[in-house]
Amino acid sequence: MESSPIIAPSILAADFAHLADAVHDIEGAADWVHVDVMDNHFVPNLTIGLPVVQSLRKATTIPFDVHLMIADPERWAPGYAEAGAYNVTFHAEACDDPVALAKTLRAAGAKAGLAIDRDTPVEPYLELLPYVDTVLIMTIKAGFGGQKFLPEMLDKVRDVRRRITAKNLEVRLEVDGGIAVDTIEQAAEAGADAFVAGTAVYGAEDPAEAIRKLRALAARADVRA
Ligand code: DX5
Ligand code: ZN
Repeated sequence: MESSPIIAPSILAADFAHLADAVHDIEGAADWVHVDVMDNHFVPNLTIGLPVVQSLRKATTIPFDVHLMIADPERWAPGYAEAGAYNVTFHAEACDDPVALAKTLRAAGAKAGLAIDRDTPVEPYLELLPYVDTVLIMTIKAGFGGQKFLPEMLDKVRDVRRRITAKNLEVRLEVDGGIAVDTIEQAAEAGADAFVAGTAVYGAEDPAEAIRKLRALAARADVRA
């Protein structure tokens, strides 16, 4: 299955005092807007929660890709689906029953995503792929933007891509962390088809132009699954 690359700018790298402007800056260029929710428990950092997502949802038509880096996602994740998020991703490390939570999210009208952090192997989760819509492989340790891309994480991307292909699944394979013009092609070649980029988009003078460049690089990559 050929799918065109998704570019999902992360507003973690934007100015939090002007989030509505930040999403307007990428309208017409971004496929999704990536929203990093951190709770100072699952990760040490603290960002934004449901009230901000609810307000920001009204400021744009770009689909929201909510990345929950929080403990107890069973309790909080459905609220983001109800707030109109297109995709809600929770962490495997924080969830006892990912299949049940994915089902709940789908019933609430969202796509369901499973995230795998840097130190978590992907093998135990491969059999869950038929029950989710998105798999997010962290290419850094979750918690902060602006970290250096870890190419060794691409083995996990290859493993997931192989399984998606073998089982002919409709699952988006997303990478998050350190994605920029010098790293996106290798991630695409490993089999990723959705790309989060914070610093590479919001650190650029022209965020929309940065998105177009990233998409062109991802699209020309040659996937060797
Ligand atoms: C970090 C977040 C990322 C972050 C990526 O835990 O999940 O989405 O915004 O930032 P960059 O693209 O700057 O590495
Ligand atoms: Zn993220």
